[in-house]
Amino acid sequence: MALGSDSGRGMWSNRWVFVLAAAGSAVGLGNIWKFPYIAGENGGGAFVLIYLVCVGLVGIPIMISEVMLGRTARSSPIHAMRKLTDLAGASRKWVFIGWMGVVAGFMILSYYAVIAGWALNYILLTAQGTFTEISADGAALTYNEFLASPLQLIFWHTLFMVLTIWIVGRGVSQGLEFAIRWFMPLLFILLLVLLGYSFTSAGFAQGLEFMFDTRFEAVSGETWLVAMGQAFFTLSLGMGAMMAYGSYVPENVSIGKTVMIIALLDTFVAVAAGMVIFPIVFANGLEAGQGPGLMFVTIPLAFGQLPMGEIFGTIFFVLVSFAAFTSAISLTEPALSYLVEEYNAKRKRVAISLGVMCWILGLGTVFSFNIWSTGYIIGQMTVFDFVDYVSQNIMLPLGGMLIAVFSVWVLPQTTVGEQLGIRGGFLGVLWKLLGGLVAPVCVLVIFVYTVMPLFTNAG
Ligand code: PFF
Repeated sequence: MALGSDSGRGMWSNRWVFVLAAAGSAVGLGNIWKFPYIAGENGGGAFVLIYLVCVGLVGIPIMISEVMLGRTARSSPIHAMRKLTDLAGASRKWVFIGWMGVVAGFMILSYYAVIAGWALNYILLTAQGTFTEISADGAALTYNEFLASPLQLIFWHTLFMVLTIWIVGRGVSQGLEFAIRWFMPLLFILLLVLLGYSFTSAGFAQGLEFMFDTRFEAVSGETWLVAMGQAFFTLSLGMGAMMAYGSYVPENVSIGKTVMIIALLDTFVAVAAGMVIFPIVFANGLEAGQGPGLMFVTIPLAFGQLPMGEIFGTIFFVLVSFAAFTSAISLTEPALSYLVEEYNAKRKRVAISLGVMCWILGLGTVFSFNIWSTGYIIGQMTVFDFVDYVSQNIMLPLGGMLIAVFSVWVLPQTTVGEQLGIRGGFLGVLWKLLGGLVAPVCVLVIFVYTVMPLFTNAG
C-alpha cells in the first residue's frame, strides 16, 4: 500500500528520470574530490576494498530501504516517518530519523558549498590559462594561496550558495532536469578521456598498484569508519535525501534493480576519479595523502600539460560544479520540503532563510583553511573537520542504521513485500539478513569500536 499516492505531488516520469536524479544526488564532490583524497590518506587499496564491501553490504540495502520508505509514504522525510510510524503502530520516536537527516543535510551543505565554490573558482583559473605548463609546485602554490584568502573563499562560497538557493527556490525545475540529462553523460565522457590520459602517464602502474594493492597493515578501526562514512556520503544515504526522491518514484519501478544501477554508476565515477588522479600524482612526485587539495592540484596540473588543456580543464571544472549543484539541491530537499509542507510556506522564502543560516555556518569551514586553521574543536579537528566528521561518520551511518532497522523490523512486512516485489523465498531471506542484520550490526560494531573511544578520550 502506498500512502497518499494520489496527492498530486508529482512523480518522476519514468525509471530513468529517477536514476538520473538519484545519480545526480549521489555523484558529486564525494566521488571526484573526496574519494581519491581519503583513499590517499588511508593507504589506498585496502581502503578501496573496504569501501566496496561497505557499499555492497551496507549501502545498497539501506538505499533500498530509504527509497522504499519514501515511495510508501509519498511525503517529505519527517512527514513520511510520521505516516509510517502510524501505519506500523510504532512509537513516534522514530521520527527522530527525519529530524537528524534535516540537521545532517544542513551541516553537510555548509561545507559542501565552500568546496564547490573552489571548483567554481577553478573554472575561471583554468579558462584563464593559469595552469598551462605549470609545475607541480606551481599548482600547489596557486591552491595554497587561494586557501589562505578568506575573502576569495567567501566570494566563491557565496556564489555557489546563491545559485543553489536560486535553483532550489524555483522548485524541481525543468532546468535542473535538463542539466542532469546533459551534464551527467558529459561528465562520464570526460572522465573516460582523462582515464585515457592517465593510462599513458608514467605513473599509471604505480597509481594502479596504489588503488588496488591491498596492504592490510594500514587498516585500523578508523579505516572502517571512514570507508563506511564515505559509502553513506557518496550514495547520499542516511539523511532522507533518497527518501525524498523515492517519494516521487512511480509504482511500477523496481526499486532493487534501480538502486543497483545508481550504486554502480556512483562507484564507477569514484574509482575512475581515483584512477585518473593517482597516476598523475605519482608521475609528478606528489603526495597521495595530501588531503582535500588533491583534486585541486593534480587535475589542473594534468590539464596544464595537455593540448587544449585550458578548454578541457574548464569543462572538467564546469562538470564538477554541476555535479556539486545536483547534490547540493538534494541536500536541501528534506528540510525544505518539510517546512513547505508543515507551514504551507513559500518555497522561495524558506529556501532563502535556510541558505542564509547555512552560509553562516559555512564561514566556519572557510576560516578552517586560514585564520582558524589551528583553532581546534576536538583533538586536531578544525571546524571543517569536525562538521565533516560528525555529519558524515556519525549522523549518516546512525540515520542509515535506524532506517534499515525500521524497514525490516518495524514496518509491516506485507507493505515491504508489495513495495519491493518480494514474496518470501531467497530474496526475503536476503532482505532480512542484509537490511535487518548485516547492515545495522556493521554500523553498530564500527561505531562502538571507533567513535566511543574518541569521545571518552576527548572527555
Ligand atoms: N552524494 C553527494 C556526493 O557524493 O558528493 C553528497 C551528498 C548529497 C550527501 C546528498 C548526502 C546527501 F543527502
